[in-house]
Amino acid sequence: MSSVEALREFAPETAVVLGSGLGAVAEAISVEGELDFADVPEMPPARVAGHAGRFVWGNLAGRRVVMQQGRVHLYEGRTAGEVTAGIRVMAAAGARQIVLTNAAGILNEAYAPGEWMLLRDHLNLTGASPLIGRPAFIDMSEIYTPHLRARWREVAQGQGITLHEGVYAGVLGPQYETPAEIRMLKVLGADAVGMSTVLEAIEARALGLEIVGVSCLTNYAAGLRAQPLRHEDVLRASEGAAAMLGAWLAEALRTAGD
Ligand code: HPA
Repeated sequence: MSSVEALREFAPETAVVLGSGLGAVAEAISVEGELDFADVPEMPPARVAGHAGRFVWGNLAGRRVVMQQGRVHLYEGRTAGEVTAGIRVMAAAGARQIVLTNAAGILNEAYAPGEWMLLRDHLNLTGASPLIGRPAFIDMSEIYTPHLRARWREVAQGQGITLHEGVYAGVLGPQYETPAEIRMLKVLGADAVGMSTVLEAIEARALGLEIVGVSCLTNYAAGLRAQPLRHEDVLRASEGAAAMLGAWLAEALRTAGD
């Protein structure tokens, strides 16, 4: 069993947070260590046995990578500080870049399920911030790093991945939105909606990391199509897309610095 010290010694260059249904991306790593959240004092204790996540690290495409498999969400009754503990753990181990992935609902009618969106910007509509209580007037004007977005776009094009770039609305959940809420989010300028990522991005920015945000577009948001939203369908869609993300991530890492 590894330890936080082993992760520090490994000194990851890049951190990746794997969203709902995207956990299989970690299988692409040649694993050098792994660590359950339960064995990391900084991580909040699991509430449901067997439901915690873990960190997995090793080599991917010639880079030292640590992946956080499993997230802590505000809607589980966690604080913004607890939600972002994994970011601080991976940054303290040395990561200078972070890839935040998620499953998201589509607001922009030019998008379709099975396609992807790079986050150009976000709306933090959770009402929370991990920086409360810290003197942190962080500049958020370019939170998702432009040169990394350019590389991810280029690699997506080479791999035939249909990729959009837009604004992610981060909401509290855990219920999906009403059609009226979706109309409101569209008016506010959002292209996709989900229940994660924004607090992690704020923490990562405060720690000085470069950030990529990627949404796996799993479903049309409420009211845009006739059928109701079901979590099983969202999970099935992102699980089906995990292999595509793995190949895309590996190539984006492999070409880093080119
Ligand atoms: N709404 C909020 N979060 C989501 C959705 C959605 O439609 N799909 C996947 N995560």
